[in-house]
Amino acid sequence: MGEVDPAFIQDPEHRPKLSIIQAEGIPIVDLSPITNHEVSDPSSIEGLVKEIGNACKEWGFFQVTNHGVPLSLRQRIEKASRLFFAQTPEEKKKYSRDESSTTGYYDAEHTKNVRDWKEVFDFLAKDPTFIPATSDEHDDRVTRWTNPSPEYPPNFSDIIKEYIEEVEKLSFKLLELIALSLGLEPKRFEDFFVKDQTSFIRLNHYPPCPYPHLALGVGRHKDGGALTVLAQDEVGGLEVKRKAYQEWVRVKPTPDAYIVNVGDIIQVWSNDAYESVEHRVMVNSEKERFSIPFFFNPGHDTEVKPLEELTNEQNPSKYRPYKWGKFLVHRKESNFKKQNTENVQV
Ligand code: SIN
Ligand code: FE2
Repeated sequence: MGEVDPAFIQDPEHRPKLSIIQAEGIPIVDLSPITNHEVSDPSSIEGLVKEIGNACKEWGFFQVTNHGVPLSLRQRIEKASRLFFAQTPEEKKKYSRDESSTTGYYDAEHTKNVRDWKEVFDFLAKDPTFIPATSDEHDDRVTRWTNPSPEYPPNFSDIIKEYIEEVEKLSFKLLELIALSLGLEPKRFEDFFVKDQTSFIRLNHYPPCPYPHLALGVGRHKDGGALTVLAQDEVGGLEVKRKAYQEWVRVKPTPDAYIVNVGDIIQVWSNDAYESVEHRVMVNSEKERFSIPFFFNPGHDTEVKPLEELTNEQNPSKYRPYKWGKFLVHRKESNFKKQNTENVQV
């Protein structure tokens, strides 16, 4: 596959610069004060909260080490992901996401109208009990919020569920630290996540790309949810827009670390104290890359709006409330439509 497929080609101003090496990287935060139970010194938690607050303010991104997610579990899901994607397209397409579903396999995602060089498998963290939203009041199509169960690799769904349990625990801890860093009660955000959580895990596979200077694994975007907790492999390729200079900075892979970023919902809750930051993924002509983001999202019926504690007369609310479930369905539907019309031309 040496020919350039125009569907994947970024406009010149958005093409990656393959040669840039940055001296500075996103902050690395050691979570041992909260994961290692022997460390209960309040001053170390205080330091941690400050570090996280600064990272959220200055970067919107940070990496965490000593996070408590067992390495063996991460290795199991990474292996399962490799085995799943190594199958034939026909096998994978048995579990395809379609217009009515929120989960499953797909390989033709577009970001800002350019096709991403990747294939994906999405899996919901919780079995939902809510009545699904439609993006349109008059639309009676029902979106399915159920997970597929591929037969291969063996125990695929169980491995994913086990992993989700651990990464979710980490996400709740991070949420507490973020709440503290905003001067809130540690559990301030928790209620939003107790009922009908819409979190999901995404297995990403970026195959080698013959024109990495023209295409991207994922085009520039911000995450729409609350928090993203990402495992990237040793190949690397994630780039983050550095707020201070408006430049792309590569996130150097740190073994067994997680990359955490604030999504649009935290930006709204915090009334812009923390901003959701643009990022993108470069591809590689030789190596394939795998990554596993966990999108930590609140309940389906959550109304997202700036928190009262963080708004006042001097700092009035910058956002109108919106219904999270509806937003999510609408975004998926519009991506899906784009996918299909553009597929016809490819
Ligand atoms: C994403 O932001 O959607 C993917 C990030 C990655 O693969 O590193
Ligand atoms: Fe993202």
